[in-house]
Amino acid sequence: MKTIKTIEEMQLTQDELHKQQKSIGFVPTMGYLHDGHLALIKEARKENDIVVVSIFVNPLQFNQASDLDQYPRDLERDEKLLIEEAVDYVFYPSSDAMYPKPLSIDLSLNRRGDVLCGATRPGHFEGVLMVLTKLFNIVNPNRVYFGLKDAQQVAVVDGLINDFNFNIELVPVPTVREVDGVAMSSRNVNLSTDERREAHHIYKSLLEGQQLIQASNWTRQDVIDEIDNFLKHTLSGQVDYVDCLTYPDLTREITEKHDIIIAVAVKYQNARLIDNIILTPS
Ligand code: PAJ
Repeated sequence: MKTIKTIEEMQLTQDELHKQQKSIGFVPTMGYLHDGHLALIKEARKENDIVVVSIFVNPLQFNQASDLDQYPRDLERDEKLLIEEAVDYVFYPSSDAMYPKPLSIDLSLNRRGDVLCGATRPGHFEGVLMVLTKLFNIVNPNRVYFGLKDAQQVAVVDGLINDFNFNIELVPVPTVREVDGVAMSSRNVNLSTDERREAHHIYKSLLEGQQLIQASNWTRQDVIDEIDNFLKHTLSGQVDYVDCLTYPDLTREITEKHDIIIAVAVKYQNARLIDNIILTPS
C-alpha cells in the first residue's frame, strides 16, 4: 500500500491508472477506522481493480470547534488495518493542501438538507459537499462507497453526483453494528462507560418504531412519539431529534409506496450518536 500526501501525486496516480484501464473504487473516511469503514473497503475490494481510501478530518463539516478537536485520530493504526484489507492507496492530505486559501465558492443544498442532521448541524452538509466535490475531482473514481449509517449523507451525495454529472456509481453499504446493536462509529470511544452501556437503547428504539409501522395503522407522529418516549425513559443522553420520513427524498409526506427512514440523534457529554433504519414496503 502506498500513502499519498499531495493532491498532485494523487492526480498523477489516478490518471496513470485510468490510462491502464483500471477501475478505481474510492472510500472517503475521516479515519480512526472500525469494522463499519472496513465493510465499505471490502465491498470496494470486490468490485474494483484499485482501491483508494482517503483519510481527512474535514474541518469544514464540523460546526463546533470542540467536536473537531475531540475527533479521534491514529494514522499508524489505520494504515495497518488498510494493509490487511489489501488497499492500494491511502490518500492523506493536509488541511493546508485541501484548503490553501479562502474558498471562492460555497455549495448549499436545496433538497434533503432541511431535516435530521441538516437541520441540527448548520453548515455540516455544505462542508461534506465541498470536501467530496474536491475528493471526487482529485481521485476520479469509478465507484464510491458510503455507509447507510449516515443515510442522509448517502441521499445528499446522490444529489451531488446527479446534479454535477459526476460519472461515478454510488454504492450504499448497510450499517455495521456492535453485538449489542450499537452502530459502529469513531465517536463511540468518546462515550463514558455508563453512556456506552445504555447506548444500545438507541437501536432498540428504532426497532420499536419499525414494529409499530409493521403492526398497525400508524401516523408519522405516532412513530416519533413512541421512539421519543422510549428514549426518554431509557437514556441519560439528550435526544437531539427523532424523525420518520420518506427515503431518499426525506419528505414528511409518506405513502405506502415510499421507503421510510426512521432516524434518531442523541447527544452525550463528548459524543453525538446517530442511527437509523430504512424500511422498504413489502
Ligand atoms: P466517517 O465518519 O469516517 O465515515 C466514512 C464512511 O464510513 C461513511 O460513508 C460512513 O457512512 C461509513 N460508516 C461509518 N460507520 C459505519 C457503520 N457503522 N456501518 C457502515 N458504514 C459506516 O462520513 C464521513 O466520514 C465524512 O462525512 C466523509 C464522507 C469522509 C466526508 O468528510
